[in-house]
Amino acid sequence: MTKSDQDRVMIFDTTLRDGEQSPGATMTHAEKLEIAGLLDEMGVDIIEAGFPIASEGDFEAVSEIAKNAQNSVICGLARAQFGDIDRCWDAVKHAKRPRIHTFIGTSPLHRAIPNLTMDEMADRIHETVTHARNLCENVQWSPMDATRTEHDYLCRVVEIAIKAGATTINIPDTVGYTYPFESADLIKMLIERVPGADDIIFATHCHNDLGMATANSLAAVEAGARQIECTINGLGERAGNTALEEVVMAMKTRNDILPYQTGIDTTKIINISRRVAAVSGFAVQFNKAIVGKNAFAHESGIHQDGMLKNPENFEIMRPEDVGLKETNLVMGKHSGRAALRAKLADLGFELGDNQLKDVFVRFKALADRKKDIFDDDLVALMRDAETDAEAERIKVKFLRVICGTEAPQSADLTLTIDGVDHQVTATGDGPVDAAFNAVKQVFPHHAHLQLYQVHAVTEGTDAQATVSVRMEEEGRIVTGQSADTDTVVASCKAYVHALNRLLVRREKAGTDGKEVSYKDVV
Ligand code: KIV
Ligand code: ZN
Repeated sequence: MTKSDQDRVMIFDTTLRDGEQSPGATMTHAEKLEIAGLLDEMGVDIIEAGFPIASEGDFEAVSEIAKNAQNSVICGLARAQFGDIDRCWDAVKHAKRPRIHTFIGTSPLHRAIPNLTMDEMADRIHETVTHARNLCENVQWSPMDATRTEHDYLCRVVEIAIKAGATTINIPDTVGYTYPFESADLIKMLIERVPGADDIIFATHCHNDLGMATANSLAAVEAGARQIECTINGLGERAGNTALEEVVMAMKTRNDILPYQTGIDTTKIINISRRVAAVSGFAVQFNKAIVGKNAFAHESGIHQDGMLKNPENFEIMRPEDVGLKETNLVMGKHSGRAALRAKLADLGFELGDNQLKDVFVRFKALADRKKDIFDDDLVALMRDAETDAEAERIKVKFLRVICGTEAPQSADLTLTIDGVDHQVTATGDGPVDAAFNAVKQVFPHHAHLQLYQVHAVTEGTDAQATVSVRMEEEGRIVTGQSADTDTVVASCKAYVHALNRLLVRREKAGTDGKEVSYKDVV
């Protein structure tokens, strides 16, 4: 192995699997394909594209991503059973470079659920990894909850998996319990004790429950792991997974003490971060490292002065290194199509002529209602344009509300469902409630609203409002968003967006109404 091979850390992105399985983050087929394309383009080494046994939709998405991928290895997840592994192979086999990732929970708590003895579990690992390896040359195996597994048993099962043909061994901190020195010690211990450890790659897969996922991943790399599993924006269940942008930028910025290389084109980070936030419905917190709106903003007077004299006073990374361009030039109703195209390209949206035509009409309509159009307005406008372009079964055609001091407030609404218009009038406790009641009258459902949030995109009374809603139906959680200068219109559209996603989730479920989850014990 050359020195540069030893320094190379592989980036394994699981936004489309661990990220997408987090409640409310469902993505449509087209969105998954788009994100996979961006991951491939930015230099992600391995894309975990989904969990093919989960549903027909997951299978189709993984297969198509596998067919389209240019450079990345395409990986699918499978539980430790032959049916899962066969289904996974059928989906990933189309890739130039396919990988099967199979796993089983090895900690005492996880062994208790399928009620397997240590020996029985060891046999299962041997059989399933052997089966996967007979199908595919590139096999990853994970002992789920590795960080809470007894060390002797962990060494034993890792050795079995290596002997059965696993080429990557992933060590998940499934519940985000580990502290950085423990993360490092565990990898060191495995490298020292397990026969055959030198012939495979160790991966680290951390969750962020205690806010240590990035630190734990980097500590594992220092101890010898050469693959980091992560997601864009740290998307993932509970407190999320290790954020790709954080580990990659940490290794780039602190290369003096973290002398490792990745294949990531960091200038693509902001664009993919915005796309993942848009399609998952999980907005990025303003002060999030690397990709938050404030990560490169220097608002206090002292900082601004220092920044002008020397940007390095307050910046350890340059905004352009992550793809941020200084573009907050205001647009308005006199801005032409070419200027809009150039501005959108700066923001990471490359539009074809037809798409530009549609977006330009929307831009003009917004400019008629709002004097200054800022970057954030355009990002919100693009998000809305994409939502409308989705094959949505329910659309808001017309909405007029009566609101004010005299109750009840009312809403006249026309919804188009599968191409047919339905008109109603409903009342409610305020205009938003009236609009939601009108939607419920036209499209009855039992989903209940878990969250309703309004944010002003920019400043001023003519600012657009971005509305996010989260709804739950029989354990299925979906989110919807929309933006408009009219808060009630944005609310109604966001609610309908969430309903459309619910329809996707209903289709995804099997005949028994359930989706298979990787947590379903086998
Ligand atoms: O967190 C975890 O343990 C996982 C496994 C399926 C690898 O996501
Ligand atoms: Zn995980």
